[in-house]
Amino acid sequence: MGNGPYFIVVEGLDGSGKTTQIEHLRDYFQARGEACYLTAEPTDLPTGKFIRRVLRGQEHVDPRTLAALFAADRVEHLFHATEGILTKLAAGYHVISSRYYFSSLAYQSEYVDPAWVANLNRLAKATLPADLTLFLDLDPAVSMQRITGRGEGSELYETLEKLRQVREDFHRAFAVYGQGERIVVVDAGDAEGRVAERIVAEIQKL
Ligand code: TYD
Repeated sequence: MGNGPYFIVVEGLDGSGKTTQIEHLRDYFQARGEACYLTAEPTDLPTGKFIRRVLRGQEHVDPRTLAALFAADRVEHLFHATEGILTKLAAGYHVISSRYYFSSLAYQSEYVDPAWVANLNRLAKATLPADLTLFLDLDPAVSMQRITGRGEGSELYETLEKLRQVREDFHRAFAVYGQGERIVVVDAGDAEGRVAERIVAEIQKL
């Protein structure tokens, strides 16, 4: 492992274990005496709070507006004077983010022209592509089970179909927009400890 600090992004479907694995990674860095800063998108900044309101159905916006809001939140996430990723890296922290622009490319391209979404995110990609993007890849049916515990029915089916689509869109986004980036697909269906080991092995290659 080089010196860093590193900017590491963890992507994955809901229920893929992002939060748990990010905590394992933080423990790994802490055991080495290296400080890290955990962050996520949507952020806790005003832009991210507004997005959460939209996601909860408390505000209604056009899907294109939502795509633009995610991109705006990402600009805040990068450049915010005190909480921003660039500031934290400059202060010597490894930064681990749950989600970054590949989430926009995967989730928003279902409703919005993918090329336009990519354009909205050009500044982020040009400014700070992740040193490592880990995609916690999970069978959407397992992801669904983890989210709901159990269940069936048409609504569930629709949601499962959607998860399948998003997973496909993630893989497409990595292939189309991930050039020059280090993106590693991790089988998130493995036992938690094995997934954590696999992630550490990737960090050690940096
Ligand atoms: P998140 O809080 O990561 O949800 P979870 O922890 O359940 O995975 O993200 C909230 C939702 O926002 C999630 O469904 C994915 C979506 N999202 C987008 O659609 N576009 C984006 O650019 C980002 C960052 C998230």
